[in-house]
Amino acid sequence: MSETLTIIPETLRDKARAALGKRNLILVGLMGAGKSSVGRILATQLGIPFIDTDAEIERVSRMTIPELFETYGEQEFRALEGRVIKRILRTGPRLVSTGGGAFINERTRKFIKRGGLSIWLKADLDVLWERVNKRDTRPLLRTENPKKTLEDLMNARYPIYAQADMTVLSRDVRKEKMANEILAAVAGIPYEESEDE
Ligand code: S3P
Repeated sequence: MSETLTIIPETLRDKARAALGKRNLILVGLMGAGKSSVGRILATQLGIPFIDTDAEIERVSRMTIPELFETYGEQEFRALEGRVIKRILRTGPRLVSTGGGAFINERTRKFIKRGGLSIWLKADLDVLWERVNKRDTRPLLRTENPKKTLEDLMNARYPIYAQADMTVLSRDVRKEKMANEILAAVAGIPYEESEDE
């Protein structure tokens, strides 16, 4: 049996937690990559607070993301997003799931790079589309052909997401498995699926 297979989840979690120290763990990537759902599990596993930046923006502005886009436009939304993320990242360790455009904005990307360990949850178009087409909560996808828009966003953004500290492939597997893969990446352990996963 290889060494990686003998690592039990508690050890993985403890090693990841120790490697993280006081740094924030920040998930970046396109809409539908699983940043919020996997982030929530990771935060529980690591025993650190979870913050979803979109939810925080909605809380402070008392508006929904579509309302913010509609009322103030994308540019103002990005400015607010940057301010909120800068503030969130002042304290650590936290598990911070960001909105898909946050890391694309140069200023916000600097806050994220300075504010902790960034992980790009990278997924292919079909995986993303399968997840995002069920809800109409994303203003950027309110277009004639939202799948094509998503593909265009992938092409434009993937080289930028690649500047994150680490990349983990987001696939159609259980969220717990995704979370374990991220813990392994943080801990610096090659990940292999254990038999009971
Ligand atoms: C956006 C992604 C959304 C939200 C807003 C803009 C983007 O967040 O911040 O609709 O530019 O990709 P999710 O990635 O959580 O859907």
